[in-house]
Amino acid sequence: MVPALLILLGAIETLQTDTLPDKKFLLLPPINFTIKVTGLAQVVLCWEPNPNQGQKNVNLNYHVKINTPQEEDYETRNTQSKCETTLHQGVSASVRTILWHGHSLLASSWVSAEHKAPPGSPGTSIVNLTCTTNTAASNYTNLKSYEVSLHCTWLAGKDAPEDTQYFLYYRYGPWTEECQEYSKDTLSRNTACWFPRTFIHSKARDRLAVHVNGSSNHATIKPFDQLFDTQAIDQPNPPMDVTAETEGSRLSIQWQKPVSAFPIHCFEYEVKICNTKDYYQVEKTTTNAFVSTTDGVSKYSIQVRAAVSPHCRAMGLWSKWSQPVYVGKEKKPIAGWFLITLTAVLCFILLIFFFLCRIYHLWTKMFPPVPAPKSTFKDLIMTTNCEKAGSSETEIEVISYVEEPMLEVLEDSVF
Ligand SMILES: *[C@@H]1O[C@H](CO)[C@@H](O)[C@H](O)[C@H]1NC(C)=O
Ligand SMILES: *[C@@H]1O[C@H](CO)[C@@H](O)[C@H](O)[C@H]1NC(C)=O
Ligand SMILES: *[C@@H]1O[C@H](CO)[C@@H](O)[C@H](O)[C@H]1NC(C)=O
Ligand SMILES: *[C@@H]1O[C@H](CO)[C@@H](O)[C@H](O)[C@H]1NC(C)=O
Repeated sequence: MVPALLILLGAIETLQTDTLPDKKFLLLPPINFTIKVTGLAQVVLCWEPNPNQGQKNVNLNYHVKINTPQEEDYETRNTQSKCETTLHQGVSASVRTILWHGHSLLASSWVSAEHKAPPGSPGTSIVNLTCTTNTAASNYTNLKSYEVSLHCTWLAGKDAPEDTQYFLYYRYGPWTEECQEYSKDTLSRNTACWFPRTFIHSKARDRLAVHVNGSSNHATIKPFDQLFDTQAIDQPNPPMDVTAETEGSRLSIQWQKPVSAFPIHCFEYEVKICNTKDYYQVEKTTTNAFVSTTDGVSKYSIQVRAAVSPHCRAMGLWSKWSQPVYVGKEKKPIAGWFLITLTAVLCFILLIFFFLCRIYHLWTKMFPPVPAPKSTFKDLIMTTNCEKAGSSETEIEVISYVEEPMLEVLEDSVF
């Protein structure tokens, strides 16, 4: 302590006699360095200049280094610095005083501070958090304005007790809101959240912080934070008023830009044209129309989807496909199928009828046989089957009488 003070006094003397720092010049680290949590996934690093540094005419800077959760490194003139970072793993950072002298850097020693990770049992925090935003035209003003909705889903931690309940919060800029509309899993744990409207700007560039904590009677639930790039999670609406028409083999498709705060030139599209066979085509375009050709005999379904192009912001997600619109008629294949089905049904009915006739002897009941003069052939068979000779049957049944004795003979020979 005493040697340090001596060096310090020496340094101050040097500064006082010499306006430009030289090799003997000693920089002192900042004091009272703290990490304060100021919001969800947001901290402020604060420090004070070392009161013993005492020089006036030298421009001191600070070199800030964040070590956990992600290494980051920057210089600042200020004595505090706001930073967005996840907090569930804790935050540790260091700062030192620096002075650029020509191309050489003079630096003090580092001072460090830590914000401890929140408590919680391992495996209890949520996993697989995904969030998307979507813009809708606002309804209750005449001014053209937009509302951004937020939808997040996650899975319960694998070691979270059955009675765990999760709660989701988001922060965008200075605004923080708690979820009001949850969806639940089979154990009625919250696993999705829907905010119909949020403070998120429709052309947002800032990051969105999402925090999910939880409670249970059997364990401390570890909270979880994630920062989302708002441009990357924004899903545009599908294009509007998709229409398609054919003129001969020419297929022309048109649509309107999606409901969005972005102007018309900010969109690019994909057009999907399918017919009921295996034909399939996806084309990209930046205009609101597309022309293709058809084979003239198939029915086509047409869908379009949109994305904000990289001219206007970092490329985000594609919209959902628009509802399909159909063009063309598929006469031949439908007629063919109908005929085949009809024939099959008719054959089936006939077959059933035939078997019913055989089983219940309906034929003879409906059309009693006309007595006819006995032929010598019939006489011969009748005499060999005296026990059944009383009835007179049609020719089909006569044949069956012939077969029966043969079957009996076969069976006899087997046993
Ligand atoms: C540093 O912190 C201490 C105690 O926390 C306080 O007394 C002191 O005034 C602070 N120094 C400065 C320069 O703010
Ligand atoms: C959750 O995420 C992990 C790793 O990111 C992945 O392997 C797993 O398939 C995901 N589970 C579900 C149900 O999506
Ligand atoms: C406006 O809001 C009302 C009720 O809130 C809803 O029924 C209607 O569909 C909305 N109109 C538009 C154009 O969004
Ligand atoms: C969850 O986080 C919010 C916001 O930080 C806090 O108000 C709330 O008390 C926390 N709940 C639990 C159960 O930790």
